[in-house]
Amino acid sequence: MKKLTSRELRNLYFDFFKKHNHALISSASLIPDNDPTVLFTMAGMHPLVPYLLGEEHSEGKRLVNAQKCIRTGDIDDVGDASHLTFFEMLGNWSLGDYFKEEAIKMSYEFLTSPDYLNIPKEKLYFTVFGGEDNIPKDEESYNIWLSLGVSPDHLFYLGKKENFWILGSGVGPCGPDTEMFYDTGKDKCSDDCNPACSCGKYLEIWNDVFMQYNSDGMGNYTPLPKPNVDTGMGLERTVQVLNGLESVYDTDLFTNLKEKLESVSNKKYEDNLESFRIILDHLRAATFILGDDLGLTPANIGQGYVLRRLIRRTIRHLKKLEVAEHVLPELATVIIDDYKDIYKELERNKEFILNELDKEETKFNKTLKSGERLFYKSIRNLDNNKLSGRDAFKLFDTFGFPLEMTIELAKENNIEVDVEGYHEAFCEHQEKSKTLDAGAFKGGLADDSYETTKYHTLAHILLASLKEMFGDSTVQKGSNITPERLRFDFNLDHKMTDEEKETLERLVNEKIKTNTPVVCEIMSIEEAKELGAEGVFEDRYGENVKVYTIPNISCEICGGPHVENTSELGVFKIQKEESSSAGVRRIRGILQ
Ligand code: ALA
Repeated sequence: MKKLTSRELRNLYFDFFKKHNHALISSASLIPDNDPTVLFTMAGMHPLVPYLLGEEHSEGKRLVNAQKCIRTGDIDDVGDASHLTFFEMLGNWSLGDYFKEEAIKMSYEFLTSPDYLNIPKEKLYFTVFGGEDNIPKDEESYNIWLSLGVSPDHLFYLGKKENFWILGSGVGPCGPDTEMFYDTGKDKCSDDCNPACSCGKYLEIWNDVFMQYNSDGMGNYTPLPKPNVDTGMGLERTVQVLNGLESVYDTDLFTNLKEKLESVSNKKYEDNLESFRIILDHLRAATFILGDDLGLTPANIGQGYVLRRLIRRTIRHLKKLEVAEHVLPELATVIIDDYKDIYKELERNKEFILNELDKEETKFNKTLKSGERLFYKSIRNLDNNKLSGRDAFKLFDTFGFPLEMTIELAKENNIEVDVEGYHEAFCEHQEKSKTLDAGAFKGGLADDSYETTKYHTLAHILLASLKEMFGDSTVQKGSNITPERLRFDFNLDHKMTDEEKETLERLVNEKIKTNTPVVCEIMSIEEAKELGAEGVFEDRYGENVKVYTIPNISCEICGGPHVENTSELGVFKIQKEESSSAGVRRIRGILQ
């Protein structure tokens, strides 16, 4: 087996696929611009969805890349040997070109050839889709593995959960996959232990997805005009395997940062595994998010909230290691230096990254001590071992403690947090806040029945869709809502054509179907402005406002209330489009 560094593996992967006529493309942004259902790019396929659906790619039909990814689903598990929030995914792509046979053959050659990874064949295991929900078993892939000499006892048919890839939204290009595993040599955890088991005996290193369907999210899988191949190899994990290491944190990707952290903390990694790993992972993720050219900054909502959580959790663990304040820029510089020749945006945005990290620390330091004081005072006399929701909310609202951090702090002290109570306190606060009256910024909310609420959310989606069609200068000029319909005025210099009306209906309905949650946050007007929220800002400085975000669809200052998820709206239909006044059009729309 080749003992490769991360840099060597990246290059070898690129060289191998270039040799097989793939064009090397660079990583897309960490923030997807074509998928409103997620906050971050979670897989190499995300930015390539339009091409997987048939659009032509300027670099051709065979592509190879390393894509920056963020997955925060398991953020609470970071600290163990394997979890990361940021990672790089190596991928090769066939856009309507080769399919199962060539993809599997190339994967096998790269894994086993002495010129490439040279992994002993007996250490490799494979899983294949066994058929489910009227989607047939993938016998073709199974037979291709057999034809390459893989023994049947290294091949497993598994179900949809394990071997069918689709984006979290359940919508878009998808298909059966075949996954490749490395056997670490550990004992089986039980007689049933197979590659899908998470006991650590088998580590997944690569996944070849055969995208042959487009899912509408309602259980219908339409065959794609041209099937594609999407593959994903986790860089960190594979370097770990190739070097026989126990953890992704032992790979060369963390060597310099680990050393720097040992020197600023005067502590050893081995003695402080959890805090070290959290800092190594979270600071790397935060540095990449800040370095992503989009100028995203810490906030109380959306991607900015994730960024804030990552930075604040890093700071808390630095304090646990008794590191002096303001070392974030020094540590992040090591990350930037390690990666800057591969991800040039880090160098380009270096000053911004370092400044934002330092600014966020200054902000957090101001309240951290008093917040911790409140925390320890509150837990002194608990009768049920549970921190009240009210206190958890106060820690968030007054002291800037992300809820998840309070939960972590509580866990360290063997107590729980009343999370439900936290959300209740949150809502109560919204109700009370005088400046946040429903309709403070938008007129026309007739009542707060469920039907009316749906139309209120529709108004946000409608405005977002109009902007998409007619540009950012499109603004809402008024609205009137009843439980039966929405009347919505906006600026436009012409009568909408039938085609435009159809497009608008389609855009709105597509957004409704994304099943996106509607999130409400309270923040200062300055923060709302920074976030780019729609709304009236004049003369309102210093006030707190309620901001409703439908991630990647809309962000508006608004009194609410709103539904919890776009999917509740049903189907939007335009009943009438007419002139309201000069340069202002009026749409009457219903939900069916
Ligand atoms: N899209 C596939 C994955 O993320 C390759 O595993």
